[in-house]
Amino acid sequence: MKSPSAHASSAPAPDATLLAEVEARLERFVEEADYAPNLRDAVAYALLGGGKRLRPLLAMRCAEAVGGRRTDAIEVACAVEMVHAFSLVHDDLPALDNDAMRRGRPTLHVARGEAMAILAGDALLALAVHAACSAPRDPARMVRELTDATTLMISGQVYDTLGGCPESMPPAARLRTIHERKTGALIRGACRMGAMSGGAREGALEAIDGWGTAIGLMFQAVDDLLDETQSAEHVGKATGKDRDLGKLTYPGVYGIDRTREEVESLRADAQRAILPLGEAARPLSDLTEYMASRTR
Ligand code: IPE
Ligand code: IPE
Ligand code: MG
Ligand code: MG
Ligand code: MG
Repeated sequence: MKSPSAHASSAPAPDATLLAEVEARLERFVEEADYAPNLRDAVAYALLGGGKRLRPLLAMRCAEAVGGRRTDAIEVACAVEMVHAFSLVHDDLPALDNDAMRRGRPTLHVARGEAMAILAGDALLALAVHAACSAPRDPARMVRELTDATTLMISGQVYDTLGGCPESMPPAARLRTIHERKTGALIRGACRMGAMSGGAREGALEAIDGWGTAIGLMFQAVDDLLDETQSAEHVGKATGKDRDLGKLTYPGVYGIDRTREEVESLRADAQRAILPLGEAARPLSDLTEYMASRTR
């Protein structure tokens, strides 16, 4: 029979433990970078002490789901969160979504000026590549995954902000193209890098890839719903804006009720994708339910 201590050490760590580990590692990356003091302040403002940290959680849980240790994935988890933070800083700029609130406080360009927001975003992207290079397993592969996902994210932001999708594409296909790129790619990348860090074999990586694709698209569909249905106080960022900005969104194309059905269908796709991983994927299954029903 297992001793109580052996049992305790094999139990999965609660999310709070993982998130504290991520927070500490992110802080260390920022401390160790050779930044001017005002740049360090701006990078810390954008990166530390806020946000749901969902992408790091996905990376570390995927490492565990394929039989690895969560610590194998902490550098890639940080790298993805840095790209995410950079994408948010630039997404909020006056030239893009022109938002004044993020994570319940003034956006970086409001707090520190536009020039610093642009440069801190650049710095976060470079720091992300640095973090991915520190991954213990196949860092070159991690950097390639990270930069490929980032390229897709930027392409998605261009489509979202400036257009450029072929006019012949029906709105539903255009919507999917934009959302898979601007948000889905980085979420899928977090899952893939986490699984690779955990030593996933091909079949397991395929399952994680399918899951990451479904939850990535679902995440932005839910974000679009929250923009229509939640208050700024609750979500910590302006809401009710996508329609005014003429954004192509799930509720804009499908309406609220059908968007909820789409979320339900993506949730089911995601749960199906991880069935081959069996009981080891229970935390991923729980994360799927959380992501489908979140309200902020
Ligand atoms: C917001 O992402 C931007 C999107 C890609 C929809 P999150 O909702 O994960 O933002 P934080 O990190 O928790 O603030
Ligand atoms: C953001 O989409 C996607 C990226 C930041 C890449 P949104 O513009 O909908 O995100 P929020 O609503 O401002 O967080
Ligand atoms: Mg945007
Ligand atoms: Mg925005
Ligand atoms: Mg949004």
